[in-house]
Amino acid sequence: MNNKSFVFKTIESSLEKGKITWESPSNIALVKYWGKKENQIPANPSISFTLSNCKTTTTLHYTKLEVPSKEYQFSVFLEGEQKDDFKPKINTFFKRIEQYVPFIKEYAYKIETSNSFPHSSGIASSASGMSALALCIMSMEKELNPNLTQEEFIKKASFLARLGSGSACRSLEGDLVCWGAHKEITGSSDLFGVKYPFEVHSNFKNYQDTILLVDKGEKQVSSTVGHNLMHNHPYADNRFNQAHDNLSKLIHVFKSGDLKAFIEIVESEALTLHAMMMTSLPYFILMKPNTLEIINKIWAFRQQTGLHLCFTLDAGANVHLLYPEVEKEEVLAFINSELVGYCQNEHYICDTVGFGAQLIKD
Ligand code: DP6
Repeated sequence: MNNKSFVFKTIESSLEKGKITWESPSNIALVKYWGKKENQIPANPSISFTLSNCKTTTTLHYTKLEVPSKEYQFSVFLEGEQKDDFKPKINTFFKRIEQYVPFIKEYAYKIETSNSFPHSSGIASSASGMSALALCIMSMEKELNPNLTQEEFIKKASFLARLGSGSACRSLEGDLVCWGAHKEITGSSDLFGVKYPFEVHSNFKNYQDTILLVDKGEKQVSSTVGHNLMHNHPYADNRFNQAHDNLSKLIHVFKSGDLKAFIEIVESEALTLHAMMMTSLPYFILMKPNTLEIINKIWAFRQQTGLHLCFTLDAGANVHLLYPEVEKEEVLAFINSELVGYCQNEHYICDTVGFGAQLIKD
């Protein structure tokens, strides 16, 4: 498949005015996407667990214009409050997708969005937000062309979501989604995310993700800036090769259920992501002292108990704790006794691996 496969073809029916609501989750990468080429093409393949509790709900209200507009006509509301500062990102998104969904210029929109997690929690909402919006637009396309199959719908929604935010293309389905061409993963593509196609051991079913909110502030480095740091980065080529290798290793780990090997790959990926930021120019340290305290506590806990708690990090200071469902009780007791003190206002969020976005019927 190439970009051309995603160009909107026929209008079969008319569409005047209406609204569509989609709920879409966040995801947490195990092998990280860090570095991209033009047009939101990832520099390496990545894989993530789809989450279930951390999600965005977006309602897209649309009204057909008398004459198609030159500029995109829309207003955005977050939790009922008008958010003009969200407009540039959405405008860029519309610009990138217009060639694939040219009907978007024929409507005016009101976009109402809300997140299940607190806005200022330092949890990125771009994956859940952009995937929810892409799905709303695809629902319009489906109204215009009812012949679109479910498979085409999801693939194109992921393709569009990617153009809004790379990681968003991994949020539509679950429980494991890969994005980026990888020689051993059937159907994998740089253009959209696909459900992980191979066997997954029961150890990974309902995997838990507890997010420790170490720093709820604005991101210190935006992902756009971050990805750009990988251009001319001295370790970039090795890093991209390593991501391919880690994904190959994970195929065996998912099949065998080897939690020790899983932990090694996931923690190494998180630290490598941060190592890339520390060794770029300009350089950044995105962990906070409490991030390191938590990591050391996790390692000591694992040593003492033999349990399979591990961590991963995004491009910030918050820590995602990943562990099997059967170890939930012990891990939550440990979090409450030893780790909450390192969180801002003792705040953490419990999440579980989930199965993707949902259309919300009125
Ligand atoms: C560290 O998807 O936010 O979370 O494509 O520029 O929107 P853009 O980047 P974004 O990058 C996410 C990077 C990451 C790792 C990951 O989710 O794979």
